[in-house]
Amino acid sequence: MFRAFYSLSGRPFNKEIKSKDMFVSASHTELLARLDYLREHRGIGLVVGEPGLGKTATIRAFASALNTSLFRVVYYLLSTVTVNDFYRGLAANLGLEPAFRKIDLFRQIQDAVFSMHSEKKVTPVIVLDELQLASTQFLSDLHLLFNFTMDSENPFILVLCGLPQLVVKLSLGHHQVLNQRVIMRYRMLPLSREECRAYIDHQMRLAGARFPIFTDSAVEAITTVSKGWPRLVNNLATTSLIYGCQKGLKEIDEEAVQQAAFEISM
Ligand SMILES: Nc1ncnc2c1ncn2[C@@H]1O[C@H](COP(=O)(O)OP(=O)(O)OP(=O)(O)O)[C@@H](O)[C@H]1O
Ligand SMILES: [Mg+2]
Repeated sequence: MFRAFYSLSGRPFNKEIKSKDMFVSASHTELLARLDYLREHRGIGLVVGEPGLGKTATIRAFASALNTSLFRVVYYLLSTVTVNDFYRGLAANLGLEPAFRKIDLFRQIQDAVFSMHSEKKVTPVIVLDELQLASTQFLSDLHLLFNFTMDSENPFILVLCGLPQLVVKLSLGHHQVLNQRVIMRYRMLPLSREECRAYIDHQMRLAGARFPIFTDSAVEAITTVSKGWPRLVNNLATTSLIYGCQKGLKEIDEEAVQQAAFEISM
């Protein structure tokens, strides 16, 4: 495999990056700062961005750094759970025996969120990821479920995350009420050209590279083709390494990147 060929001790551009190993881009830093604001003020936050920019990875980094005696994080990926799984899972996470009827379940969840915050001094942090997949009904239900208007301060943190079309979805008439309650909004940005160069360098150093493997022109080509979207950088750089290894290239040059881009139809 290319790891041995390029004398790497680890796998670069790994999808399962540890929070502590993440590259600190301007947008990553900004999103962490916005999430920190949400941590202090509680309530609803909205994070959007093109696919593979690092929204989920950054939110996970934020969540994993929270003090577990003050915050209870529950994370739901809308592509893998049904709406019912979400309600029941949330109830179970709050230590409840889920009621059968939705209306009762909502009341149960609200009471539990409220008492967790006011009595136990623990704030539930609920992350709903890939929310662009949510139905109109689900978004309307969210407004009901997280409506704590009786209280002066929100007893929860709700992070809504998804592709940019989520903003459009939320701006439609029937979701205006939920939309107006969003106190933090952030649209993640791609890596700049300089950041993309530093990102590739960072990834290669994490994998134990002892000398530059990508030439300057290869890095330029990856930056251009990937538009600075980290997931695309990862895919293209990995395919380039596989290609380079197959061809016995000591260095990955621009042509190897072009070939790799062709192979993965980028
Ligand atoms: N700052 C970063 N440092 C290191 N790797 C990163 C960084 N940002 C993103 N990545 C990598 O890019 C990949 C895509 O990130 P992530 O899954 O967080 O994107 P996303 O914006 O949630 O995409 P989607 O909209 O498709 O869910 C991840 O596998 C992650 O390893
Ligand atoms: Mg994601």
